[in-house]
Amino acid sequence: MRPPPGQPLTTEAIRSCLSTRIIGAVLHVHDEVDSTNHLAADLALAGAPDGTVVVADAQTKGRGRLGRPWVSPAGMNLYTSILLTRAQNSRFMTWIPLMAAIAVVRAILHTTGALLRIKWPNDVLAYRDGRSRKLAGILAETAGSRPGTHRAVVVGIGINVNMPIEAFPDDLQPIATSLLIETGRHIDRIPLLARLLLEMEQLYESLLEQETDGLTTAYHELCDTLGRQVRIELVGGGHAEGTAEAIAEDGALRLRTNTGTILEIRAGDVVHLR
Ligand code: BTN
Repeated sequence: MRPPPGQPLTTEAIRSCLSTRIIGAVLHVHDEVDSTNHLAADLALAGAPDGTVVVADAQTKGRGRLGRPWVSPAGMNLYTSILLTRAQNSRFMTWIPLMAAIAVVRAILHTTGALLRIKWPNDVLAYRDGRSRKLAGILAETAGSRPGTHRAVVVGIGINVNMPIEAFPDDLQPIATSLLIETGRHIDRIPLLARLLLEMEQLYESLLEQETDGLTTAYHELCDTLGRQVRIELVGGGHAEGTAEAIAEDGALRLRTNTGTILEIRAGDVVHLR
């Protein structure tokens, strides 16, 4: 297969493109790891600072939400994990994956002009021919909760960038996509990564200043789940069905069930029914 144009992912090339102050100030770049989230969690335990970033060209055990694998071949996509150590309270914890989804959509729009949408909480979808396909995903996990240390959050982001359709496993081909497939162009991963880290830094700063109004507005604009009839598979079992009405102040999804009860859901897997 022809390698995509664009520079290889090296520390020097990424650093020369970065315009952030905190996120990426400490940067670990690898050819291959098992999972950037795993490595970032180890770094958190070893006391890595806020904003530490891990990037890999390939992952051998890329992890998705709800225990699913994340397909992570070399030379095509972005796999990165960002360590956030100042996001200690639970209100922030619900917002972080949503914030990361906004950052991904904004970075992709800035770099490629493609406008994507978010399925709550943080699936990034492209729409084509009346159907949505998943282009990027986010796995936020807690790490580094030793006594005397703050709880850190590892925000893992996978963006399918230059992946041709045949590189996806058969079962994903109808439901997954990449920027290459959507735009017909190869995209240089480094400017996209640099923009992603900048968008993350700006949103993280507003979250730390407790300014969630801007986040709420941005998320409402980009989220395709709101206003829809949905079925939510709840973490820990069971499901709920109803209309997704709004995002609560702490980032939870407010669902009006078919019996009229209002539920606030903080984790789950959504199916858009209509
Ligand atoms: C999802 O299932 O939607 C979440 C996918 C998250 C994938 C990224 S790739 C970088 C980081 N490392 C991992 O092992 N997973 C996340």
